[in-house]
Amino acid sequence: MNILVIGSGGREHALAEAFVRSPQVTRVVVSPGNAGIALKYPTVELASHQSILDYCHESLIDMVFIGPETAIADGLSDYLRAGGIKVIAPSQKAGRIETSKIFAKELMQRYQIPTAKHVSVSDYESALERLDMFTLPVVIKADGLAAGKGVVICFTKADAIKELSALLVDKSLGEAGSRVIIEEYLEGWEVSLFAITDGDSFCTTIFAQDHKQLYNDDKGPNTGGMGAYAPVPAAEEYRKEIEDSIIAPILAALKMEDSLYQGILFCGIMITPQGPKVIEFNCRLGDPETQAILPLLETDLVQICDAIEQHKVSALQVAWKTDTSVCVVLTSEGYPRKPNTGHPIFIPSITSATVYYAGVCDINGILCNCGGRVLNVVGIADDIDTARAMAYNEIKGIEFYGKYYRNDIGLRINKFKQ
Ligand code: AMP
Ligand code: GLY
Repeated sequence: MNILVIGSGGREHALAEAFVRSPQVTRVVVSPGNAGIALKYPTVELASHQSILDYCHESLIDMVFIGPETAIADGLSDYLRAGGIKVIAPSQKAGRIETSKIFAKELMQRYQIPTAKHVSVSDYESALERLDMFTLPVVIKADGLAAGKGVVICFTKADAIKELSALLVDKSLGEAGSRVIIEEYLEGWEVSLFAITDGDSFCTTIFAQDHKQLYNDDKGPNTGGMGAYAPVPAAEEYRKEIEDSIIAPILAALKMEDSLYQGILFCGIMITPQGPKVIEFNCRLGDPETQAILPLLETDLVQICDAIEQHKVSALQVAWKTDTSVCVVLTSEGYPRKPNTGHPIFIPSITSATVYYAGVCDINGILCNCGGRVLNVVGIADDIDTARAMAYNEIKGIEFYGKYYRNDIGLRINKFKQ
C-alpha cells in the first residue's frame, strides 16, 4: 500500500513511522512534511485540493491520513472522498465538533453530555450582561479555529471584559472570534483520550496527558503542548464512564444530526470532583499526544484505518505495548508569542530515544528551527522514570540557539494517585 500523510509536524512524523511499521505498507509520503521528515520519507508540496487528488491518482496512493484540523475545516476529506480516494479523517460537517465550539457545546447540551456550563454570545453588550451569571475564574473561548489562541482563563472581571472587548469589538481573531463562549471554569486534572470510530462503533486508545503551559509546574501561558506521556494509570478508573457518558452519546448525537463521524475523535477531558467532563473535542489526533501514543501501538495502523473506512470498528481489537512513553517538546526561544527562528540545529547520534521533527526547515542545506515547536524527543521504557531519563539524556546533546523545554514532563503522574 502507498500512504499519504497530510501535515507538517511531529504528529505527522510519528504517523509516518507508525505506517511504515505495517507489513502492508510499501511507501509513505508526507505532504508538505518538513525538512526533518524529508530525511527519511519522500515529501511533496501540494498547493490545492485538486493537486492533492491528482497526486493521489498519479502516485497510486491507496489511503490518505489527514493530520491537522485546518485541512478538515477546508473540506479536504470530502474533496478526496468525492474523488474516489480512501481518507482517514471526518467530513468537514462532522469536523464542526472542533471547528465550531458553539456547535460542540450546543450538541453536548442537547444530548446531556457532561461539560462546563456556558452561554454563547455575538455582541459585546449582551456578553457583558451574561458575564455576571458566572463566578470567577471564568473561561472565554472564540467559537472558531484560532491556532491555540482562542481560549483565555480570566481570573478577574476586568480581564474577562478586556477579552470580550478584544474578540467582539476589536475582532482580534477575526471571524473565528465573532461568536464567543463564556464558560464555567472546571476544577480538576486533564487527560486526553482518542476514540477510533466509524461513526457507530468505537474503541478507545490508551490515555495520554498533555502539558499545556509553557513553564514547569504548569505555570505561564498556554501553548500547543509542551510534552505528553502515556498511558495515564490514574485515568483508567474513569474510562468506562467517559466511554458511556461522553463518547457513545456524542457519536450518536453527531449521527442524529446527519454528521456521521468517521475517523479519530480527540476527547479533552477534565476529571472533576463530580466526574469526567468535556473540555473540548478535536476532530483529529492530538499533538504532542500522538508522538507519545503511537510508538506504543502494537496493532497495525493500516488495520485500524481499514476498520474505520470499512465500517468495521465493532470487530477491531487494538493492542498496546505495556511500556510508558514520555515525549518532551523542544521549542524555539520566544514561543508561543514570537518564536526566534532560523538557527542551525545539531542533533548527535540518538541512541536511546526517538526524535520527531516538527518546526524545522532547510536553510542552505542546514537543518534549522523554523517554528515554535521544533523537535519532540520520546523515551520509551517499562517505567516512566526510565522513559523520562532516556528522553532528557538525549535532549542534553541537542543544540540550537534558544532551545527551551520543560523539565517536568511526566512528573505529574504521581500527583493523581488520590
Ligand atoms: P482548549 O483549546 O479548549 O483545549 O482549551 C485550552 C486549555 O484551556 C485546556 O486544555 C484547559 O487547560 C483550559 N480550559 C479550557 N476550558 C476550560 C474550562 N472550562 N475550565 C478550566 N480550564 C479550561
Ligand atoms: N495537544 C492538544 C492538541 O493537539 O490540541
